[in-house]
Formats: sequence, C-alpha cells, structure tokens
Amino acid sequence: MTKKILLLHGPNLNLLGTREPTVYGNVTFDQVNEWAIAHAQSYKAELRFEQSNHEGGLIDSLHAARNWADGVVFNPGAYTHTSIALRDAITAVMLPVVEVHLSNVHAREEFRHKSLLAPVCVGQISGFGWRSYILGIDAILGHLGVLDKPH
Ligand code: DQA
Repeated sequence: MTKKILLLHGPNLNLLGTREPTVYGNVTFDQVNEWAIAHAQSYKAELRFEQSNHEGGLIDSLHAARNWADGVVFNPGAYTHTSIALRDAITAVMLPVVEVHLSNVHAREEFRHKSLLAPVCVGQISGFGWRSYILGIDAILGHLGVLDKPH
C-alpha cells in the first residue's frame, strides 16, 4: 500500500524564501513543497502539503489527516513553543508525527529551546534548512517501515 504523508506547515512558513533568509534560507515555500513531493515520490509515497497561520487551522488539518494519512511531517513554527492545543491534537489523532525545523532551535533564543510538541512526536529534526524536510520525510517513512535499510 502506498504510504500517504501530510507535510504540515505552521505560521509564517508561507513566507519562506523572503522571511529572514539568514535564518531560514532562500529556498521558497513552493520549492520546498515541490521537492518534498518529488522526494516522497522517489519512495513511491504520496505527500500532500497544507499550511495555516492559525492554530485551529493546523488542528483541523491534523484531525482530517486521520482519514487519509499514515504519518505527518510537521513544522509548527512558533506554536512549537506555546501550543498545548496542538500537543493534544497530535496525541488525539494517534498518527506518527515528525517535528521539523529549518533552524537549529536549540542554538537560538532560550524561548525556542523548549518544544511542547516533541514529547508526543516520534522525534525532532532541527537545523538543516530546507533539508530538514527531506530528513523528516525519510524519518517518517522509516518509522512507517518503508525504508528498511540505508541506500
Ligand atoms: C521554526 C523555528 C521556530 O522557533 C520559529 O518560530 C519558526 C520557524 C523553524 O523552522 O526553524 O517559525 O519552526
């Protein structure tokens, strides 16, 4: 069965490419999604992306994913550090979630060091720019048993 992945982007990530390029890089939101879809396809997996600047919109995406996705790659943006509601949503939907960040949140301001979501995720990938998404796809597909060995 083809695995289906939700790539979910939180607030301000639609501005990728123009937003603080020294921190987040020059690769645009559209490019990241295009490359993510192509990368998933190389493993014969299907990836769909969604983005919301609103906490409730992200919760709705996670709830809807129950009906179609096998796993989620999630950059929750600043909600990483604040949202009990998103943490509860991840627990509620019972889908494996990999948390990803473009920047190394642990090397930045102290308020970014804490993730309320990481404890209910499979794991966290942080600091590799746009490649964090590619690593996140590998991580979720590995978790789902699609990648059984490195190649
Ligand atoms: C981010 C890190 C967060 O701290 C920040 O609020 C973001 C982006 C990242 O991808 O590095 O919006 O999630």
